[in-house]
Amino acid sequence: MTNWKRYTITAALPYANGSKHIGHLAGAYLPADTYVRYLRAQKRDVVFVCGSDEHGTAITIQAMQENTTPRAIINKYHVLIKNSFEKLGISFDIYHRTSEPLHHETAQEFFLDFYNKGLFKEVTSEQYFDEEKKVFLADRYIVGTCPNCGHDNAFGDQCEKCGKALSPNELINPRSTLSGAAPVLRPTKHWYLPLNEYEPWLKQWLIRDHAKDWKQNAYGQSKSWIDAGLQPRAMTRDGEWGVKVPLPDAEGKVLYVWFDAPIGYISATKQWAKENNTRWELYWKDSDTRLVHFVGKDNIVFHCIIFPVMLHMHGDYIVPDNVPANEFLNLEGDKMSTSRKWSVEMHEYLETFPDKVDELRYVLTSIAPETKDSEFLWKDYQTRVNSELVAIFGNLVNRVLVLTDKYFEGKVPKAGECSDLKTYVTGQREKISDALEHFKFRDALSEMMNIARHGNKLLTEKEPWKTFKDNPEATGVVLYDCLQIITNLAILCEPFLPFTSQKLFAMLNVDERNFSWKDAGRQDLMKVGHQLGKASLLYQKIEYEAMDKEIEKLQKIKDQNSKIKEEKAMETTAEAKPEITFDDFSKIDIRVGTIVAAEKVEKADKLLKLTVDLGFETRTVVSGIAEFFKPEDIIGTQVSVVANLAPRKLRGIESKGMILMSEDKEGKLHFVSPKDLTDNGSTIK
Ligand code: 2FM
Ligand code: ZN
Repeated sequence: MTNWKRYTITAALPYANGSKHIGHLAGAYLPADTYVRYLRAQKRDVVFVCGSDEHGTAITIQAMQENTTPRAIINKYHVLIKNSFEKLGISFDIYHRTSEPLHHETAQEFFLDFYNKGLFKEVTSEQYFDEEKKVFLADRYIVGTCPNCGHDNAFGDQCEKCGKALSPNELINPRSTLSGAAPVLRPTKHWYLPLNEYEPWLKQWLIRDHAKDWKQNAYGQSKSWIDAGLQPRAMTRDGEWGVKVPLPDAEGKVLYVWFDAPIGYISATKQWAKENNTRWELYWKDSDTRLVHFVGKDNIVFHCIIFPVMLHMHGDYIVPDNVPANEFLNLEGDKMSTSRKWSVEMHEYLETFPDKVDELRYVLTSIAPETKDSEFLWKDYQTRVNSELVAIFGNLVNRVLVLTDKYFEGKVPKAGECSDLKTYVTGQREKISDALEHFKFRDALSEMMNIARHGNKLLTEKEPWKTFKDNPEATGVVLYDCLQIITNLAILCEPFLPFTSQKLFAMLNVDERNFSWKDAGRQDLMKVGHQLGKASLLYQKIEYEAMDKEIEKLQKIKDQNSKIKEEKAMETTAEAKPEITFDDFSKIDIRVGTIVAAEKVEKADKLLKLTVDLGFETRTVVSGIAEFFKPEDIIGTQVSVVANLAPRKLRGIESKGMILMSEDKEGKLHFVSPKDLTDNGSTIK
């Protein structure tokens, strides 16, 4: 179906526990906004909803770590994110919140609908309980030793060191992160969505209806989930923060965040409809409505499997017609991450480049990770702005307006008899539309820019500044055509570059509301004799210094991150480790050695570079003991050295071996030395 009566467009509700970066923007919000602006330009009936996802374990843990409440965190970030989106021109019709009572009611209504129809599976299972804090522990609240790599602080759902997915009962010596106590297993009841029962429906819907029109990532990921066999999934959790399970025997239980978050799209639409005096049901329950979810690739399964099953189970709802998921945007060669500070946060970009919003929109759309991960590089950003936006788009507009001002006092000159502009621009409009209909934003943007290239070519070929003296009419004809081109551009660039479009319409001295998408291609958008407005530069070049500053900022972060990593590697823990065999132990070659030289490692507060005589050879060992020993005090000390540890580089120095230290209760380090002086190189067994 292509003649949709109306559109419900959603963009993934961001977790409101931190700021969002330009990777998020490129992943979901910018393409969604571009698509919505394109629909609106055609006067189609559309609602564009988003808002804060305010529940979930991550926010609860963060609140505990920061000694604050989830509410304080979400209030802060809801405002920050909402403002950033506004400034970036992301034109949501509503930016709602999942903490709103309307959302809680809507999510509970969904739950009760399934419950009353007997669709849930109630399962009681043994889960870890913290007896001190009197709460069941979500997987993330439990840490212990990883059965795979021995890491002491593996989480109950995953070991962050070796990456293995875990369940809490696989952890060795599990501990509660809330109290530090060993948790006990206790029975608890939860309500499960029997995804397995909907496999036939899902399969048919996905394979029959969407094998061709969905992007490979969404289709492929969903299909492989289904092919692997779906399992019932718990839709409730033990906890206090979230939407309460609306049942009498469910004290201390909330809805799973991925159950309530997508329902957030519906509650947002309800709120918007209330404010705009319309019926929300039209946007969710009428089969003439096209529902499209814009998400990043990490959200695919929730939007292509779990939420569609929920909508289908409810019965009254439409299911998504498409889920245009993007891959990830990396930054200068590394995965973007707010917590590692390896990112360009939206609000930070806006602080540094407040008047360069369309520049960012342009670059992010040009490099959008539509089919695979892509890379944001500051130098590339600069090149695209300077040699595309400034040199092609901005330059065309400026030349046309300045020349019209110079030769025709800023009035639209007379048209020529024949021009093939109409066919060309209409063709371009169709190419852009077609690309946008298929969520190919990069292609669409590049076809829009081709129109500007076409205008520049016309100017270069016809050189209207040369003809004016002998043939002013010829100059007028070219400028007339070019003015039509830039007016067409003002219409067609709007979905991508809304601020540029606004500025351009102002320079042309026309009201943009007089034009819609289908006007693009017309050759008489600018009437002969119309007085144009004042020309100003659409874009300014980006200087090298500004880019160098950004790159330097990142370099500093890189240095800090590797320092943290090194220091972590040096940390010792006081916990008992899992049992090993004698064979394991005998692999370690521990020798006596004497420190013969010691010096501080530059820019590393904790490290000393030691030269150790091991009898059979003299080694360099970097040791994290600088806080406890002055270099001059330890020369001549006999120490124990793990001699066969694989060498590794610390702060650029190759360290061969490790000095054994004991750590006391205060965290102070002491050398483990032979009681009496002995030969260097003696083995310790
Ligand atoms: O990944 C995320 O940021 C989630 N908060 C997205 C939720 S999308 C929807 F379901 F609300
Ligand atoms: Zn591990």
